[in-house]
Amino acid sequence: MSTYLITGANRGIGLELVRQLKNRGEDVIATCRSTSSELNALSVRVETGIDISSRDSIINLRESLNDIKVDVLIQNAGIAEFNSLSNLDPESILHQFEVNALSPLCFVQTMLTHLSKAAKIALISSRMGSIEDNSSGGSYGYRMSKVALCMAGKSLSLDLKSKDIAVAILHPGLVSTRMTGFTSHGIHPKESVEGLIQRIDELTINNTGTFWHSNGEILPW
Ligand SMILES: NC(=O)c1ccc[n+]([C@@H]2O[C@H](COP(=O)([O-])OP(=O)(O)OC[C@H]3O[C@@H](n4cnc5c(N)ncnc54)[C@H](OP(=O)(O)O)[C@@H]3O)[C@@H](O)[C@H]2O)c1
Repeated sequence: MSTYLITGANRGIGLELVRQLKNRGEDVIATCRSTSSELNALSVRVETGIDISSRDSIINLRESLNDIKVDVLIQNAGIAEFNSLSNLDPESILHQFEVNALSPLCFVQTMLTHLSKAAKIALISSRMGSIEDNSSGGSYGYRMSKVALCMAGKSLSLDLKSKDIAVAILHPGLVSTRMTGFTSHGIHPKESVEGLIQRIDELTINNTGTFWHSNGEILPW
């Protein structure tokens, strides 16, 4: 049994990660800004009031862990606001950069002291953060924030290699969640999370720093 810590766990992909990991017998610490009845029903440890862009709340989380060591940290929390070229909203772009890129990096850095030896870190990014894969343009704030997250993940993979900590940068697929307006074109969170967990299981220090689709495809930067 390993200890998993998951952010943004009250709904969507985060909630499904908690469900599947709990079902296979892992120890799960679910963090969120505010909990949900679905999360409460899973009977895992829930840490509420955790806004990843608030340094105070991350430090509170770290303190509440006491001497617990996390084996797998999954930084899943994120936002998407769709800014077009004709309707750029600099404040929205900055906000997405803060939540999707800078905060995940600071979160990981703050939690390093509570990671176990040979721990794993999974950053939930998006293929919308792939420059090579960008064939449709637009979504300036989301794309720019996720490409920055990919870069943070790559640097983390190099900086943490000597500590035997492996880092995966993951794309969940197009998933039917609130973020995508529960699109009928998306896959169910169950299918996405089965793939994400498989990628995390297969993550080692030898393949650290890779950008994967949940289906196992390696994505271009
Ligand atoms: N769905 C897709 O097709 C798709 C595709 C590519 C990548 N992703 C990525 O997958 C991750 C999960 O997305 P999802 O589809 O599950 O979206 P979702 O249903 O909108 O869930 C987003 C989660 O992030 C949390 N969150 C947002 N801002 C936060 C903050 N400042 N501090 C803490 N938690 C915060 C939300 O909490 P609240 O309930 O408190 O708002 C919620 O738990 C995101 O990083 C997203 O970019 C999703």
